[in-house]
Amino acid sequence: MALIQHGDKLTALQAMQDAPVIPVIVLHDIQHAVPLARALVAGGIRMLEVTLRTPQALACLEAIAREVPDAVAGAGTVRSAADVEASLRAGARFAVSPGYTQALGRACREAGLPLLPGVATGSEIMMAQEDGYTELKFFPAMQAGGPAMLKAWGGPFIDVRFCPTGGVSLANAPEFLALPNVACVGGSWLVPADALAAGDWARITTLAREASTLPRRAA
Ligand code: 3PG
Repeated sequence: MALIQHGDKLTALQAMQDAPVIPVIVLHDIQHAVPLARALVAGGIRMLEVTLRTPQALACLEAIAREVPDAVAGAGTVRSAADVEASLRAGARFAVSPGYTQALGRACREAGLPLLPGVATGSEIMMAQEDGYTELKFFPAMQAGGPAMLKAWGGPFIDVRFCPTGGVSLANAPEFLALPNVACVGGSWLVPADALAAGDWARITTLAREASTLPRRAA
């Protein structure tokens, strides 16, 4: 847990290496943000991807960044330079995107915001690599080929590390994490909507603890 100190400049690789799972978080209620982040941190999960999918997302990100120093708040579903700017203003220390464009890559590079760009094909990997990105999100992982796809990519793309996300669960995460080119996985299962609605923070801590102790081969 000593890898990242509060306030340190982060790299995408560090974001991937901190824990075996990056939770994909969808927040509709600002009141949930801080207790959720504390619950995840209590279970050993500090890299938190708050998706920019709700009107409250940026305020939630900002609250976590401000009030939970042991968490590292990142922005998910980042798709444009405007998203990058808004995420930075809210205190995001890393960004995750569902796809890749050169404009997004440039915006993150210029802002100094570590980015995990989403890719689903060899051409997308090559475009991201051309722009200097070698830590990538494989999205949507199960739908786009699952562990077999990552095994195939391990041949030509030996210098790339992936965070498969999309359809990943506690049950199939070990299969991904056993691969040499997988540093971590992403998933929403750590933050079930019903647990959030009920404020069942203990359940979320339990899910986080399970996730944070998953074995992985490449960290
Ligand atoms: C997403 O961006 O929605 C993630 O891929 C989450 O997928 P999951 O809900 O299947 O974990």
